[in-house]
Amino acid sequence: MMENELFRVLKEHGQEHIFEAYEKLDEAGKEKLAVQVERIDWSIVAMSNHVMESNEELAQKRGKLEPLSALEVSEIEKNRAGYEETGLEAIKAGKVGAVLLAGGQGTRLGSDGPKGKYNIGLTKDVYIFERLIRNLLDVTDKAGCFVPLYVMTSDKNNDETTAFFEEKNYFGYPKDFVKFFKQEMAPSVDFNGKLYMEAADSLSLSPNGNGGWFYSMAVTGVLKDVKARGVEWLNIFAVDNVLQRIADPVFVGATIDSGCVSGAKVVRKADPMEKIGVLCLEDGRPSIVEYYEMTEEIINSREANGDLSYNFGVILNYLFRVDKLEEILSQKMPVHVVEKKIPYIDENGALIKPETPNGYKFELLVLDMIHLFESCLSYEVVRDYEFAPIKNKTGVDSVESARMLLQKNGVEL
Ligand code: UTP
Repeated sequence: MMENELFRVLKEHGQEHIFEAYEKLDEAGKEKLAVQVERIDWSIVAMSNHVMESNEELAQKRGKLEPLSALEVSEIEKNRAGYEETGLEAIKAGKVGAVLLAGGQGTRLGSDGPKGKYNIGLTKDVYIFERLIRNLLDVTDKAGCFVPLYVMTSDKNNDETTAFFEEKNYFGYPKDFVKFFKQEMAPSVDFNGKLYMEAADSLSLSPNGNGGWFYSMAVTGVLKDVKARGVEWLNIFAVDNVLQRIADPVFVGATIDSGCVSGAKVVRKADPMEKIGVLCLEDGRPSIVEYYEMTEEIINSREANGDLSYNFGVILNYLFRVDKLEEILSQKMPVHVVEKKIPYIDENGALIKPETPNGYKFELLVLDMIHLFESCLSYEVVRDYEFAPIKNKTGVDSVESARMLLQKNGVEL
């Protein structure tokens, strides 16, 4: 971008302070910053002006909600053998791939490196990545073949993640079946919408949420590998649920048999107000809705058997049909404006790491993808066997609670 054009764009968006920083740089620095500015999606940055939406306003934006019944554990158990056979067949035919979403920053856990490097062992080393690969190996041992694993990282953690996999020899998984790709980055702004900088020659950029993973697969070229291998289904999962089953043949088989074009693992809600996204129907299509987007009446409504009508929450383990993902590739997803603690450099060039939120980041969320699909199998799993997310060091969804659940499931730590 030419210098006068750069100035014009920054002025137009009220970001002259970035041009002031630019002017102080050498040629290499100028080039780097100009490229970052060129990549900014200004329509997203402008959203920081409209974040004062209350929960009621969010709720009003929702369409007509209706319950979506789940394939419950009792039903799954009755048909387990059949589903498993269908799933294993698909895996053996190379039709199933897995996508590990590991581009997040794990700020709540407070460890600087990739979350998957976190050691949850007590008497020996047990890394989160290692646990996940172990879970996948349970399936591939049974299937007698490997499942391609695509790992999404970000500019912030890609080098450390790939080096760790190398160092640990891919935890026993064949290297040829693992491909890394980087997600897109998005700028951060202060509460007045002014772009933050994280270094003299760099905007403060952070991963753009977990919802852009398929777009990132496409633009990085990794999608070509998916297509070349003939993968028809992708199982998306989060890095932090150390108990989750990956490419679970029963889930895969049940989804294929259902005729749905996507599937979501869900758990029964612990109580009506549990802070978990609920899978339901919105205007006749599958959708994930947060508890604060629902009215009290909807949250508490019950079926004839006494069960909550909106009873199943998602655990970030989805199956998507690849041809459908390609169809929705160009569709816009909602951008979430999230208050975060954003490290930045002050006017003296000192790096400040704030203790409290000081601005907004912009994120796409994978849960919004569900609504782009015409059907989704809601597939119930037992929380204590499949859901041990590590978000915090202690308390709810923590290293402590995950350790307890792992031990309950016979995993040595
Ligand atoms: P979370 O929403 O828990 O975010 O991610 P996080 O970044 O890991 O942790 P906090 O909120 O900063 O404490 C859920 C899943 O989505 C992935 C994470 O790596 C995790 O597997 N994710 C999140 C990405 O891959 N990219 C992102 O930009 C954000």
